[in-house]
Amino acid sequence: MANTATIEIDGKRFEFPLVKGSENEVAIDISKLRSSTNGIITIDPGFKNTGSCESAITFLDGEKGILRYRGYSIETLAEKVDFLEVAYLLIFGELPTKSQNDKFHADIIAESHVDEDIKKILDAFPKTAHPMGIMSSLTSALTAFNATSVNVDSEEDMYKSVVKLLGKLPVLLAWTLRKKQGLPLDYGDNSLGYVENLLKMMFSKPNSEYVQDQVLVDALDKLLILHADHEQNCSTSTVRIVGSSHAGLFASISAGISALWGPLHGGANQAVLEMLEDIQADGGDTKKYMAKAKDKNDPFRLMGFGHRVYKNFDPRAKIIKKAADQVLHDLGVNDPILEIAKALEKEALEDPYFVDRKLYPNVDFYSGIIYRAMGIPTDMFTVMFAVGRLPGWIAQWREMRLRKEPIGRPRQVYTGETERNYVPVEER
Ligand code: CMC
Repeated sequence: MANTATIEIDGKRFEFPLVKGSENEVAIDISKLRSSTNGIITIDPGFKNTGSCESAITFLDGEKGILRYRGYSIETLAEKVDFLEVAYLLIFGELPTKSQNDKFHADIIAESHVDEDIKKILDAFPKTAHPMGIMSSLTSALTAFNATSVNVDSEEDMYKSVVKLLGKLPVLLAWTLRKKQGLPLDYGDNSLGYVENLLKMMFSKPNSEYVQDQVLVDALDKLLILHADHEQNCSTSTVRIVGSSHAGLFASISAGISALWGPLHGGANQAVLEMLEDIQADGGDTKKYMAKAKDKNDPFRLMGFGHRVYKNFDPRAKIIKKAADQVLHDLGVNDPILEIAKALEKEALEDPYFVDRKLYPNVDFYSGIIYRAMGIPTDMFTVMFAVGRLPGWIAQWREMRLRKEPIGRPRQVYTGETERNYVPVEER
């Protein structure tokens, strides 16, 4: 393949270098387009054809259904390692040795608490507040309580901010849940593993000892791994672009949480369960909802189907579907919602509308079923996703800072009025 691409405008030819990735992905480097063409830019709504950065963290091939973190397949990681090892891998590029992992965990544990005054902010939220709004606000508030966390000029300072956030975000998640459930806050137990401690902080009761259930630990560990990174999606791009102004890590992650909240992104896991419940309440007629999803005059979409990048299948959905069957079996849960989900999946996979548009179940189609079986309320699902995505957001933010990427500042094509003369109010 050639090393350059040529663009011809008004008979004038401009050459631009091609950039090749390690998996032979090719991009046209148009960074000199505007200066060499006297102001011409590209336009690409939704960035469907635009690479915002070079990145060595996550590779995915949407056509082949491949997802790898730092070169390791998602299937291998979901089977062989735990969430904290995956976090280390994403952030620092290698799977940790035993001593690296122990130190990483110890450093996180040392930060697994938040300032008591955070409780006052938490208390000020109404019980009806959506947990993602609370999480985004509290994560942003962490900056105020950890002012030095924005100093990330050395790798050491950056590391301190990273372990702080990995330690504190699970506390915020658990407290957000407990506030909604009217339970006293739990401070966790530093002798436990990362996921075990998160479960204890979420589910312990004030009057009895919390007993770990290995089925829940394994299920949550797997779900967090599957959500840990997904290259330049909406929330990750948000984290990178907010971070590119040198706003601190916590502010950048708070913005990422807000981006994840939307039902077209992470909020889909909540939307899927609500959709399945609606179908169940409406008599379980999946065909009626399939017809609605295909009707262009109906805003209804089959939540949990389709993906911007995966046009074959979502490899995470495959793993999660198997895990959902296993978890429901192990917990002895017989959930009719799962039957509705299976019927919808079968009908969609055989329907030309979905087949032609390459719309397959995505990761969120099944994750909600597992969360529900674990006893997690529906409006907490996206918060679970956020804690899973945290290592990916951190890794991407860190990469952006270490590469000294410039501030993100896209251009636009202006389509508004040209210069107008002012008209006094009495003459309008
Ligand atoms: N139900 C019905 N039709 C759909 C759906 C759906 N879930 N998804 C896409 N389509 C149709 C869409 O109407 C369009 O049809 P046409 O070509 O006739 O106009 C075509 O498929 C292409 O859709 P698009 O909206 O242009 O595709 P996109 O790449 O912009 O959007 C998506 C991707 C994920 C936002 C979209 O598929 C969707 O809204 N899915 C439902 C929400 C969902 O499950 N989101 C979670 C994504 S996975 C978790 C994550 O990584 O955040």
